[in-house]
Amino acid sequence: MSLFACVTGADRGLGFEMVKGLLKDGYTVFAGRYNKEWRLLDELESSYPDSMYIVDIDVSSDASVKAASQFIKSKADKLEVLVNNSAIGGDHNDKTIYDSLDFDEILKVINVNALGATRVTNALFDLIVAGDKKLIMNISSEAGSINTCYRKGWFAYCTSKAALNMLSAIVHNSLKEVGGQVLLIHPGWMKSWLTGTYHDEAPLTPDIPAKKLVEMIRDPERYKGERPTFIDYEGNKWDF
Ligand SMILES: NC(=O)c1ccc[n+]([C@@H]2O[C@H](COP(=O)([O-])OP(=O)(O)OC[C@H]3O[C@@H](n4cnc5c(N)ncnc54)[C@H](OP(=O)(O)O)[C@@H]3O)[C@@H](O)[C@H]2O)c1
Repeated sequence: MSLFACVTGADRGLGFEMVKGLLKDGYTVFAGRYNKEWRLLDELESSYPDSMYIVDIDVSSDASVKAASQFIKSKADKLEVLVNNSAIGGDHNDKTIYDSLDFDEILKVINVNALGATRVTNALFDLIVAGDKKLIMNISSEAGSINTCYRKGWFAYCTSKAALNMLSAIVHNSLKEVGGQVLLIHPGWMKSWLTGTYHDEAPLTPDIPAKKLVEMIRDPERYKGERPTFIDYEGNKWDF
């Protein structure tokens, strides 16, 4: 039985590690490329020439998502799992409500982080419904939790992840009707380029959460329910 997965923002960081883990688990993986200068996916593809497709996808663009979904649909008639991983950190500054805020920047981050995941889900939803697992894994963040919010700034990123959580809840209400599940994940604080420069001070390398997330995909039944599941990479529940 063929198993199909799609991971967006897969050039590096968590997305790349998810692609690696899913390939090892026997999936045929559509790996979303955004950063054409970063070549890790090409190296990986040479090890998995029959089960990996690199797909150009800018989740902020309707045209790009449409072209990518057409390509995926030319190769697969179902997807077991869609991992919406793409994101940008936006300006990680100390601006509070007392300061002058850059609303264009906030809209840009929301467009990538929240609408991007929903754009891709919208374009591929028929394949997910046809899949054996019917699983959407949206990579969210503790920063999107309204109930535990302690920050006075980082408006763009935090708001984008809160919006992603709501968009996921709405999608889940359709997906659960056909036996599927939306999982919202806080992957932990990872070393990555999310905020533009490499964050070496973070405690986790992305392969650590990726391993746990691939395990969740192996056995998603335990996460299925009425509501989207919002958990960290170790399976601990997060408060919306
Ligand atoms: N790192 C953390 O501590 C942390 C904590 C909580 C949640 N997360 C979440 O974990 C996920 C993975 O982040 P990461 O830490 O692995 O950072 P990352 O390496 O920056 O991964 C994000 C990926 O998305 C890509 N991307 C940016 N804009 C895009 C667009 N318009 N279309 C498609 N792809 C786009 C990035 O490309 P470029 O590199 O070219 O921008 C990058 O490959 C994100 O959803 C992030 O919000 C991370």
